[in-house]
Amino acid sequence: MLKQSYAISEELIEWRRDFHMHPEIGFELHRTAKIVAEELEKMGYRVRRGVGKTGVVAEIGEGGKVVAIRADMDALPILEENEYEYASQTPGAMHACGHDAHTAMALGAAWLLSQEKLPGRVRFLFQPCEETADEEGKSGAQRMAAEGAMEGVDFVIAQHVDPSQPVGTIGINGGPCSGGVDSWFGVITGKGGHGAHPDQTVDPFHLLAHVIIGLNGIVSRRLDPFQPAVVSIGTVHGGFTQNVIPDRVEISGTTRFTNQEVQMQIREEMGRAFNIARVMGGDYDLKFQYGGPPMINDQRVSRVIEETGREMLGADKVHEIGKTLGAEDFSVFLEMAPGAMFTLGVQKRGHEDFKLHHPKFDLDERALPVGTAILAETAKRFLAGEQ
Ligand code: NI
Repeated sequence: MLKQSYAISEELIEWRRDFHMHPEIGFELHRTAKIVAEELEKMGYRVRRGVGKTGVVAEIGEGGKVVAIRADMDALPILEENEYEYASQTPGAMHACGHDAHTAMALGAAWLLSQEKLPGRVRFLFQPCEETADEEGKSGAQRMAAEGAMEGVDFVIAQHVDPSQPVGTIGINGGPCSGGVDSWFGVITGKGGHGAHPDQTVDPFHLLAHVIIGLNGIVSRRLDPFQPAVVSIGTVHGGFTQNVIPDRVEISGTTRFTNQEVQMQIREEMGRAFNIARVMGGDYDLKFQYGGPPMINDQRVSRVIEETGREMLGADKVHEIGKTLGAEDFSVFLEMAPGAMFTLGVQKRGHEDFKLHHPKFDLDERALPVGTAILAETAKRFLAGEQ
């Protein structure tokens, strides 16, 4: 499979560069989705367009098991600082998370699998809006799942580029490897007044200071130390001018966790921290918006990917994935079928310091056939029932 994958290197690079030059953001992936759908149709896939707004679902094969391969297609609202000829032509949009490569490699895997006699079905999930969510707080995976993209799927796999690892390597392991997300929005109210007469006010900044200390004590003082979690503040807004104490301040942030019990415990403890405002004579309002579940790789599926990687690339080329409480909405699909995401080493010389989401992020295109081959070979093994 690796050899066949190298044979289409040029096509993989061409696709990737085309997507890179024309990045699209969020659910507005009209050009990208159109190209993807047309390529898949040419390869003989049954294609459904507009799944979850601009998602594309494509299937090939008959009967048997269904293995799904997911690729996210969206770019980021970043002004690219690279200057090569295939740099972004859309100011303020850039494929700085490698989703251009994910899309190209999934197309490559689709082509390789279209050349095989499959003992089952392969379904491709080309997904919009992994990076953000729509006005209702739903990401691309949530939208596609709600429209039946995962119906009947037995296994689901995906990959993400990793610029910290060399080309020719992959990372994989079972269990939790990214965080579940809650966004939260708080308002602390007191009583406004003149800055010269704080005694006649209930200063919401003073209340806020105590609430923040309470929030920052949750992970260190209230949670099981063996449970990874984060409570972070992202915004604090309040006040109009230097000599007026306002009547309210607004605060928002994000929390991360790897299981629902901890998520609920954090919510409860945050309520307690905010309640300090009440104890001190003010009041508060606190709302949560669920952002998505933690990503939990299935042990069995992870093992198949690991074995495929060892055989294809060499035993020393497969390492344990770096865990993160960053969010990855592939987790939504993993709640619906056993599956796993692996990472693909794409480190490029001269770009080692530019991580994902950096305006100078770039990847080594020699990794494209590797990721393509692992996707296709793993899918084949699932259909053959080798797991
Ligand atoms: Ni990404």
